[in-house]
Amino acid sequence: MKRVMAIANQKGGVGKTTTAVNLAASLAATRRRTLLIDLDPQGNATMGCGIDKAQLQRGTCEVLLGEADIQSALVPVEGAGFTILPTNQDLVAAEVRLLTMTVGRETKLQNALKPVREDELVGAVNRALAAKGLSLLPEEELHRNIGTAIRDLRKKRALTLKQLAKRTGLSVSLLSQIERAESSASVTSLYKIAHALKIRLPELFARV
Ligand SMILES: Nc1ncnc2c1ncn2[C@@H]1O[C@H](COP(=O)(O)OP(=O)(O)OP(=O)(O)O)[C@@H](O)[C@H]1O
Ligand SMILES: [Mg+2]
Repeated sequence: MKRVMAIANQKGGVGKTTTAVNLAASLAATRRRTLLIDLDPQGNATMGCGIDKAQLQRGTCEVLLGEADIQSALVPVEGAGFTILPTNQDLVAAEVRLLTMTVGRETKLQNALKPVREDELVGAVNRALAAKGLSLLPEEELHRNIGTAIRDLRKKRALTLKQLAKRTGLSVSLLSQIERAESSASVTSLYKIAHALKIRLPELFARV
């Protein structure tokens, strides 16, 4: 089910941006597809998501003015699993142009979002996440969890990839690909890795 939440308060410095960014990250952490729309020309939410607002080609301003599709302006947030429609001070210009508009300015955002059917928006969010390796497809998540478990255990045991390769008989590049979830490991490879890390095979799946 789609739900839209707005964080607004006339008073400054009361935690609107902090709430918006943390809420988006929390919703994403519970596997909800989340789009954060930055509608503040300060662009603090945009910066808070690690995006250089000075380098923006497209954002809320262009979308509101109908100069860009929302899909082309979405940016996946590294490591957080949600997507943002970023902004910068250009939004002030959009506000000025909207102010001089006598009819329809209240519905600009609604309309900017409207042509996007829900499945199209979900598709765009998924594509943006997948492009950054942040996809939540179950199979990819499985590989990522196993890869992360192996890397964490290897580091805990102070082993280099080369040392683990020697112990398992697997190549350094295969191990590196498995750790980075770029390759799915066979059960035999996982067994060799578990044996070399001195754990039982099921423990590799503990986080899955
Ligand atoms: N729950 C909180 N407890 C303590 N400090 C907080 C909390 N939420 C936000 N802050 C701090 O308050 C300050 C203002 O927060 P924030 O920038 O989110 O407010 P804002 O309402 O977005 O401000 P503005 O009106 O300028 O956009 C920041 O320094 C932030 O770290
Ligand atoms: Mg703010």
